[in-house]
Amino acid sequence: MQRVKVLILGGSSEASGLVALLAQEDRFALTLSLAGRTRRPLLPDVPCRVGGFGGVPGLRHYLEEEKIGALVDATHPFAAQMSQHAAQAAGMSGVPLIAIRRPPWIAGPGDRWTMVADMREAAAALGTRPRRVFLTVGRQELAPFRAAPQHDYVIRSIDPPPPQSLPPCARVIAARGPFAVEAERALLAELGIAVIVTKNSGGEATAGKLAAARALGLEMVMVARPPLPDVAAAVAGAAAARDWLIGHVGLAHDTAVVARGV
Ligand SMILES: NC(=O)c1ccc[n+]([C@@H]2O[C@H](COP(=O)([O-])OP(=O)(O)OC[C@H]3O[C@@H](n4cnc5c(N)ncnc54)[C@H](OP(=O)(O)O)[C@@H]3O)[C@@H](O)[C@H]2O)c1
Repeated sequence: MQRVKVLILGGSSEASGLVALLAQEDRFALTLSLAGRTRRPLLPDVPCRVGGFGGVPGLRHYLEEEKIGALVDATHPFAAQMSQHAAQAAGMSGVPLIAIRRPPWIAGPGDRWTMVADMREAAAALGTRPRRVFLTVGRQELAPFRAAPQHDYVIRSIDPPPPQSLPPCARVIAARGPFAVEAERALLAELGIAVIVTKNSGGEATAGKLAAARALGLEMVMVARPPLPDVAAAVAGAAAARDWLIGHVGLAHDTAVVARGV
């Protein structure tokens, strides 16, 4: 039986979750694609490719050359460029696209959030008075905080940031989620954190700090998501993406197999 080739653009828990959910579906042949930002990524037991495609033309070429039957945009909500490229390349090559759009976090009672549009605004929102800041924005976007050197930063990222990218007063915690609420609460209290800066990533794995901040009465500076392309098919999680793939690609494939009498 010829299987439908599915390319999953990953770098998120949804991508890993989808790979796990599709492991038993022998109608699909999966390839997981990673940008290559993390030094030791957790790789699932499916073929993986690592590194950029070379923009929209490169991705289009890959989709056509590899005869990809469906593309899944399961990138992180802040990976807006890759999502744009996926929408454009899929449209040009006629490959069905499903995007997993993880719902954002929403402030609730007791939350003290300051909403900002980007990292520059986040750094400015910390104010002029020196504070101890828990910075959980990844290691690639620290430059704006070098322009706010009055603060004392604790930076958490999967891989340590390059030393030259750090603000003058900073220490680094290298750690990979998920992070439980109680552990987050203990860490924030022990470090004497006054304010947390985070991207509005959404999802469960890093949501522990939100409840911990609420419990401790800490302020959070919440960086809004970048705009993502409108796509015809978007779902909130891995299970819905699996259902879509089975319904839109897998069933068509099954029908073709039956029609051919395979
Ligand atoms: N941004 C975040 O906060 C964040 C957080 C957690 C995980 N991640 C993951 O880290 C990766 C990079 O994030 P980013 O914000 O740097 O992305 P981005 O700005 O949207 O993409 C920059 C370039 O990286 C390459 N790329 C991105 N994702 C790729 C993938 N899954 N497979 C192959 N190439 C990929 C593409 O290069 P070409 O143009 O050469 O194809 C893309 O144009 C993403 O896969 C994302 O899911 C990002």
